[in-house]
Parts: sequence; C-alpha cells; structure tokens
Amino acid sequence: MRKPVIAANWKMFKTTAETSQFLEVFLPLVKGCHDVEILLAPPFTSLAVASEMLKVSGVRLCAQDAFYEKEGAFTGEISVNMIVDCGCSHVILGHSERRQYFKETDEILNKKVRAAIGGGLEVIFCVGETLEERETGKTFDIVGRELEIGLQGADYSKITIAYEPVWAIGTGKTATPGQSQEVHSFIRKKIGELGAVSKETGIIYGGSVKPANIKSLMEEKDIDGALVGGASLDPVSFSQIVKYN
Ligand code: 13P
Repeated sequence: MRKPVIAANWKMFKTTAETSQFLEVFLPLVKGCHDVEILLAPPFTSLAVASEMLKVSGVRLCAQDAFYEKEGAFTGEISVNMIVDCGCSHVILGHSERRQYFKETDEILNKKVRAAIGGGLEVIFCVGETLEERETGKTFDIVGRELEIGLQGADYSKITIAYEPVWAIGTGKTATPGQSQEVHSFIRKKIGELGAVSKETGIIYGGSVKPANIKSLMEEKDIDGALVGGASLDPVSFSQIVKYN
C-alpha cells in the first residue's frame, strides 16, 4: 500500500525566525496525522532550526537540491553529506525551476539522483512539461525522457516521483484531476518498463495545489500525494492540505 505523501516546497521563502513561527503554529495542527507522510523542504539556511523543532513530530525534513560531488572546490554548493548532517531524510531533485533557471540537464540530474541515494537520502524527483510542449502533444515524450535519463540506474525504492506541469506552477492553474491522472498513469507504466516495482512507487502531483482542490486530486487512483509551493507557506492552509480527508 502506498502511503500518501504531502510535501511543502518553500522555495526561496522564509528566514530562520519565520521558519520557527511557522512550525510553532503548524506542528500542533497536524499532531496525530499518522496516515500521511508529511515532508517540509525549507531553504538550506533553515534546515538546522527546522530539524531541531521537528524532532519527535513525525514530520520529515527535505532539502531543495544537492550537488553530486562529495566535497571539494565548488563554491556555493551543498553536498549530500551536509544535508544528511542537517537532519534531512529527503531531497527534491529536478524541479522545473532548477532545470529552467540553473540549466540542470537530465544527465546532471542523474548524477545528483545517484549521489543522493548513495549518500542515504530518498529523492523526490520532479518531471513535467511546459505549456508549449503540452499544446504540441509532447507531454509523454518529455516526461518519458526525463524519467529515462534522470533515473537511469537508480534504486526506485528510494524514489517518489512528482509530476509538476510547468504551466500549473505558481500560476493558479491546476491540472484537472483527469489531466493529472492521465500523466500519472503514464508515469507508472513507464517506470515499470524501466525496472521499478511501479505499484509501490509514490507519484505525487504539484502545481497550484490548495485546500480547495487537494481532495479531488487525491481521489484519482494514481495520485499519491502533493508537492505544494505557495499554499505551503501558510501553516493553516498547509495543515488543511495535509488533512484533506
Ligand atoms: P505552487 O504550489 O506554488 O504552484 O508550486 C508548485 C511547486 O513548484 C512545488 O514544487
């Protein structure tokens, strides 16, 4: 049975003080929510403070990126080991913002995925098409290629896939449950062909998820959770998404 995963991706938001304020409100709201895996991905600078506050909460800590080298002269980069040292169990890799603004290719992402899993982390691996790609009928080609190259040789038991259509991120346009289910079902089939035990792999949806639309998304058979940006910045709204049932 796949356990639902609800993950907050804070992107480049919140100082350490704002992180503490969020958790002081959020943690009591989700106390006792054991049937959902809750993940929090604050910026690197808030990992230490969040790790301290999350102890015994059951909420797990996630980094937003990691470099593939173990250590060395790579100014500004953060290694897998450093992230584990900060208390993370997970890392997000392949987010469309990393692909678009920081030119991360499928090949670079494959190195990151292998390094992360090799270093003991679980990976939330993001895939998704742009509006132009969707409108020209390329969704399955793009998502298929991102999975094929990005996850080559990876241990699927350590991977959760996040389908995040680029046109739905931060735009208020959510893919309909039917549109998402269609791609989730494709992803499940594809990773099965690539060697995963696909019925055990979590496939979560991201893109303008809110308290008002989470329930209908979760009703689809291949949607196992959500990766939430904007609506995860407010503790009440994020707790409502966690408690969608
Ligand atoms: P929004 O929920 O703000 O659309 O962001 C989605 C996302 O990119 C999560 O990784």
